[in-house]
Amino acid sequence: MVGVSPKIAPSMLSSDFANLAAEAKRMIDLGANWLHMDIMSLRKHTNAYLDCHLMVTNPMDYVEQMGKAGASGFTFHIEVAQDNWQELVRKIKSAGMRPGVALKPGTPVEQVFPLVEGATPVEMVLVMTVEPGFGGQKFMPTMMDKVQALRQKYPTLDIEVDGGLGPSTIDAAAAAGANCIVAGSSVFGAPEPGNVISLLRASVEKASLTT
Ligand code: DX5
Ligand code: ZN
Repeated sequence: MVGVSPKIAPSMLSSDFANLAAEAKRMIDLGANWLHMDIMSLRKHTNAYLDCHLMVTNPMDYVEQMGKAGASGFTFHIEVAQDNWQELVRKIKSAGMRPGVALKPGTPVEQVFPLVEGATPVEMVLVMTVEPGFGGQKFMPTMMDKVQALRQKYPTLDIEVDGGLGPSTIDAAAAAGANCIVAGSSVFGAPEPGNVISLLRASVEKASLTT
């Protein structure tokens, strides 16, 4: 063959999703050329709410495709949307998705208040409890101050925590007022993932009864 080169593209849909970064590295180390990402195919196989966290620098560019691919929630980072969040939120809504805003550990919580209080508000705030990047990192308990501040101000807001959540950290997050719990390695790495899911839910339910 002249002029073409082989592109071997393992499909990440068959990878261990709890260790996506490690799986990607493993495939490249083993000689893969491309990583095939089946963004559309997940919607075809489930009716579940697809909670999409966009750790990208230009979220606006993804709104249309994500909407068409069947995303349910579209959460962008405030750090990259300081100037255009109003337009972004409007677009996300008109593409049929629920807008959410995420903040990195170094970003003060006050930065998201205007987005919750705006004319077209976000419907979820995601408080990152690790630096964004990969699964399996250590939970940062100091981020609970942000969760608490948000819960105090907004009693009915969906507040999500993401990073290092599992049986040993859930109680702190739930007590602070988080109700949406992202869990990667603690669920997928458990011998009985169903038990971990139940435990996380029970902790959030218990905390919401006592606050
Ligand atoms: C981190 C991602 C997380 C990650 C969580 O950048 O936003 O969603 O997959 O993984 P665990 O629960 O293992 O910290
Ligand atoms: Zn995430």
